[in-house]
Amino acid sequence: MSTSDSPVSSQRDGAIDSELGDFETLEQFILEQQDRFPHSTGAFSRLLRDISLAAKIVNRDMRKAGLIDIYGSTGETNVQGEVQQKMDALAHREFVLALRRGGECCLIGSEEHAEAIPLSTTSEGDGEYIVLLDPLDGSSNIDVCVSVGTIFSIYRLPDDYEKEEPELDAALQPGTEQVAAGYVVYGSSTMLVYTTGNGVNGFTLDPSIGEFLLSHPNLKTPDRGRIFSINAGYYNSFDGGLRDYLDWLQETDAESNRPAKTRYIGSFVSDFHRNLIKGGIYMYPATQGSPSGKLRLMYEANPMAFIAEEAGGRATDGYTRILEKQPEKLHQRTPLYIGSADMVRRAEAFLQGEPERV
Ligand code: AHG
Ligand code: MN
Ligand code: MN
Repeated sequence: MSTSDSPVSSQRDGAIDSELGDFETLEQFILEQQDRFPHSTGAFSRLLRDISLAAKIVNRDMRKAGLIDIYGSTGETNVQGEVQQKMDALAHREFVLALRRGGECCLIGSEEHAEAIPLSTTSEGDGEYIVLLDPLDGSSNIDVCVSVGTIFSIYRLPDDYEKEEPELDAALQPGTEQVAAGYVVYGSSTMLVYTTGNGVNGFTLDPSIGEFLLSHPNLKTPDRGRIFSINAGYYNSFDGGLRDYLDWLQETDAESNRPAKTRYIGSFVSDFHRNLIKGGIYMYPATQGSPSGKLRLMYEANPMAFIAEEAGGRATDGYTRILEKQPEKLHQRTPLYIGSADMVRRAEAFLQGEPERV
């Protein structure tokens, strides 16, 4: 029997084939998308490449977090008065560095920096994109090996923008103006999921070759799921309509597949990602202590709302579509109800005192 006929080697060849498979790399995918626009300059493709590179670096650092001195807090609080973790600061630095080096971005807004950061661009021309990001979401989970993420939102510098150096006003655009949005989840595997308004695609990092490979093409979220994600510890400070909705979810009714299941990681990216794939609703409502909720409109709610809608889901603050909210501040907060369209609609109906509407 020749070596190639041996069962062992053909098994191995099969494994190798499926490993190589038809997987497309993120870079190939981006270039393919770019080719669909004949006048594209490639700037946007380069911007996505810069973001994915920073994500790989953050991923590398995160995987070593317990072994090198990047656990724990920096001893600083960020602009929201929250304790800054060392990984928050590191991830912020990596993204700023990659975007600065890449030259396609002219302004960054980051959770970890009080002001918008203008980037001096290269001699080849000015970057025309604005990137808003939560460099590390769910960072209080790092020290205990729980999934965390990065969220990003991309806008174009308005054509009629007049200031020589862009300032925050250039970024204060409603979510409907996003040209792209995405997230990276550093979980049991690392995935980058993004949209440019033409569906949602997910790429899994193959650490052995350092490439994101298209593993979840054209992601769609179920209309109705069985999962609800909320910090129920704050139940007593929720609005009555929301409490009624939560009670309703926990009633038993086989026909509507209730009781629903609770899942709450405390990393928005991870909770959102799971619900996107399995079907569910994530809620971070207004509470008595935080009347505007906790999550930030511009770099948490907006990008995820864009992705949710592109996947067939829905995102509101209980009354208004997230993507239509006009931002006034970089670190503005908003209540958030996001996920499977039917579930979000029902949450809104309860909040608005008309639960029988859906
Ligand atoms: P970040 O780590 O970027 O500050 O975000 C934390 C957010 C979000 O990821 C998570 O869903 C939520 O805070 C958890 O807040 P609670 O502990 O109040 O539930
Ligand atoms: Mn966050
Ligand atoms: Mn964060």
